[in-house]
Amino acid sequence: MTKLIIANWKSNHNLQTAKDWASSVEGYLDSFRINAKVVLAPPYSLLAGLRRIADRTLIELAVQNLSHQAVGSYTGEVCSQNLEGLGVRYAIVGHSERRRLFSETDEQVAQKVFLAVNAGIKPIICLDEPYLESQIQKVKDQFLENQVIIEDQDVIFAYEPISAIGSGQNESGEKVSQVVGLIREAYGARCSVIYGGSVNAENLSEYLSITDGVLIGGASLQADSFIQMLMIIENT
Ligand code: PGA
Repeated sequence: MTKLIIANWKSNHNLQTAKDWASSVEGYLDSFRINAKVVLAPPYSLLAGLRRIADRTLIELAVQNLSHQAVGSYTGEVCSQNLEGLGVRYAIVGHSERRRLFSETDEQVAQKVFLAVNAGIKPIICLDEPYLESQIQKVKDQFLENQVIIEDQDVIFAYEPISAIGSGQNESGEKVSQVVGLIREAYGARCSVIYGGSVNAENLSEYLSITDGVLIGGASLQADSFIQMLMIIENT
């Protein structure tokens, strides 16, 4: 199965450094073939500038967040309709930084998931154990209330233990396997589950052997270190 390799830039990079990164990674992808899908989640402001690069290569674009409101008077928010024409295929929703710093709730995250799926954007729903079950239940309720049937393959879950994010304290493979099982039990056996939290060139292979992919923050920022990880994938 094709693995998902997601680079989450958070609030890093500007247009020039973003284009430099993309052409380095593009250069690598042109000459090598990896059995993986590379997804880049830049800040919103860089999406249009990266569009052309994403069109030409195997790099696909994601957003790091999506409004829980549909189109309308919501100053500062970006909804799915605002993304039309930008080639966005995925949306990270419910990242713990957004829950912690911007007080996002299970309900809001479920609304984001619903709006993303409706717009043909695949949501990547970030979870940690304390809210794993409640969040999955809210997502299911949201679709049920709207009488919309959602397939297992329409969503991706990312197990992102808060203690592992940006800390260098990546979670053990054993624990990740256990939580992947919990997510599939709670949501559906065929849903994709990836791991995020201090993923780097040293630990990447282990996570790819037990999940459907990885969400990489810090180690994705520099093209060199990101390409190093792609090379590991190519050689395994
Ligand atoms: P990190 O971030 O790789 O820097 O730990 C991962 C994430 O926040 O998704």
